[in-house]
Amino acid sequence: MSINNSDILIEDSKNSEATNSSSKDQPNTQPPNDPIVQSKEIVYHSYHGEEELEGIMQLMQEYLSEPYSIYTYRYFINNWPQLCIMASCEGKLIGTVVCQLEQMRIDDVDTGKGYIAMLAVREEFRKQRIGTTLVYKSIQKMIELGCEEVILEAEVTNKGALRLYSNMGFIKDRYLHRYYLNAVDAWRLKLFLKSAYKN
Ligand SMILES: CC(C)(COP(=O)(O)OP(=O)(O)OC[C@H]1O[C@@H](n2cnc3c(N)ncnc32)[C@H](O)[C@@H]1OP(=O)(O)O)[C@@H](O)C(=O)NCCC(=O)NCCS
Repeated sequence: MSINNSDILIEDSKNSEATNSSSKDQPNTQPPNDPIVQSKEIVYHSYHGEEELEGIMQLMQEYLSEPYSIYTYRYFINNWPQLCIMASCEGKLIGTVVCQLEQMRIDDVDTGKGYIAMLAVREEFRKQRIGTTLVYKSIQKMIELGCEEVILEAEVTNKGALRLYSNMGFIKDRYLHRYYLNAVDAWRLKLFLKSAYKN
């Protein structure tokens, strides 16, 4: 898969602008077919400041099984604000992805390892590729920052998330027994950016 950075607008872009795909192999970020929702504009932007934190926490708490403290949110979002991408519709937050990027120097070469910590889309807005677009935009940012691979964990029962990530080129890297506090097993998923998203 080969994707040019110019194909996707990372910040402050609207759903109609994020569809400039040039290859059928690229993740499909086409707007939805649903005529009611399609008429509403979805705006993507990265985290601006503390006033947005409460909304992100509420969204994640509503849809993620794992409870996270405000310190966890602050850790990720304050350290990597550009990797916290938000989707809004008519001023309402409808989806967010929260990521981390560990940057290191190996054999005199700068490299980076990305981590997708949290992802959620409001139930009534699902299956319109908003989740895919959020992840895609965060990965584009990671590539700009020198990232070589991205990992995350997902519950083995989470069909939606597993499909989303599989469609984007993530592979199952490791099975994690009773990984979550609710004792559900997880898959560690990995995406090698060199082979997937870089030219
Ligand atoms: C997982 C989640 C973020 C997906 O968001 P979304 O905006 O609906 O995702 P997309 O529209 O980009 O869908 C991507 C793919 O997943 C599929 N998918 C989405 N939800 C699905 C579900 N419940 N069951 C099966 N497939 C599903 C879509 O059909 C699409 O695949 P396709 O193109 O082959 O049809 C959303 O369901 C969610 O917020 N879930 C609760 C929180 C969560 O589980 N977060 C992930 C933690 S790892």
